[in-house]
Amino acid sequence: KRVVLAFSGGLDTSVILKWLQQTYACEVVTFTADLGQGEELGPARAKAELMGVKPEHIFIDDLKEEFVKDYVYPMMRANALYEGLYLLGTSIARPLIAKRQIEIAKMVGADAVSHGATGKGNDQVRFELGYYGLNPDIKVIAPWREWDLTSRTRLIEFAEAHQIPVSKDKRGEAPFSTDANLLHTSSEGKVLEDPWQEVPDYVFSRTVNPEDAPDTPEYITVEFDAGDAVAINGEAFSPANLLAKLNDYGRTHGIGRLDLVENRFVGMKSRGMYETPGGTILHTAHRAIEQLTLDRGAAHLKDELGPRYAELVYNGFWFSPEREMLQAAIDHSQQQVSGTVRLKLYKGSAWVVGRKSPNSLYSEKVVTFEDDAGAYDQRDAEGFIKLNALRLRLLGRRGA
Ligand code: ARG
Ligand code: SIN
Repeated sequence: KRVVLAFSGGLDTSVILKWLQQTYACEVVTFTADLGQGEELGPARAKAELMGVKPEHIFIDDLKEEFVKDYVYPMMRANALYEGLYLLGTSIARPLIAKRQIEIAKMVGADAVSHGATGKGNDQVRFELGYYGLNPDIKVIAPWREWDLTSRTRLIEFAEAHQIPVSKDKRGEAPFSTDANLLHTSSEGKVLEDPWQEVPDYVFSRTVNPEDAPDTPEYITVEFDAGDAVAINGEAFSPANLLAKLNDYGRTHGIGRLDLVENRFVGMKSRGMYETPGGTILHTAHRAIEQLTLDRGAAHLKDELGPRYAELVYNGFWFSPEREMLQAAIDHSQQQVSGTVRLKLYKGSAWVVGRKSPNSLYSEKVVTFEDDAGAYDQRDAEGFIKLNALRLRLLGRRGA
């Protein structure tokens, strides 16, 4: 019996590793994903080895390019925002981790997978819907729903009893829980639980406080090709490098902070703080290039589909026929979404100050009040308005 564990190398997943070896008397295979969380992954290998995982059963994969190219970019094409605000930085990473775990399970002949998400949140749902969607017969072990190490004290006691290193800052109660990758850092719990209390400064890790950002604005351009960002200031970047570059701009100018109370799929509300520096710039720029290049009918339909798409990603239905159907429609809409957006970055904001495209539908000739090039006859507007007004006038005549 073998189980593939999504292993960060942190205290919680280290305890899980040991607990799995004991409770299930099974061989544990660890998988650590580099999604651009900005942490050293060497210690994860050392820890796994220390706990007796065979070298050939320690998987550490750099998934940054796949993450941005095949998950973040398709989602950005949809302008997906959960509950109007959240750019889904944690939600979009889970299906990729699940997919890779299932691949590794196949490679090493494991019959089970395991993760460190709690039994109260969204992530358990996302991981497990991913697992089952990709391997209907996989066995899932969710230690947080099974074990009795329900308090921090007991977790640390277990760690100490089994020679799992516990860093000093983990000895006390962790002040809040985080999840990070190239797209965002999310913080929840503990000091953030009272939604009336402002988020303390020390919670922010990847943006400067907008109040301390430079007093002079910075201008950048983002170039799009068929809905995807491909260059910054005329220089081409791979998807992961482009997002990393935008993260640098966003950090400097304090862009992409969000304090949100959201509805978890499992039913309760939770309060979180997100920092999505590059993703916020990307989202803003993408909408701007769509303003020029999308027809109104297509644009408005996209705006109706966006929230549906976001909800599917949030609830963990990435690998579902309905998400794929929406994706096909969205991708089709992006064929002409190419061009350049100019942004002004200043103290927490990314302002769109210019956009241009070889595929623009915008016509100065048609819109100008000075002259019309024959495409629009102002006299046509009279009949257009009268017919549209007909029902309003009938209602008005009837009264109330
Ligand atoms: N609420 C966010 C989501 O469901 C983030 C969850 C993980 N974040 C964390 N700090 N543990 O996508
Ligand atoms: C967790 O429960 O592990 C994190 C929060 C969430 O998944 O919503």
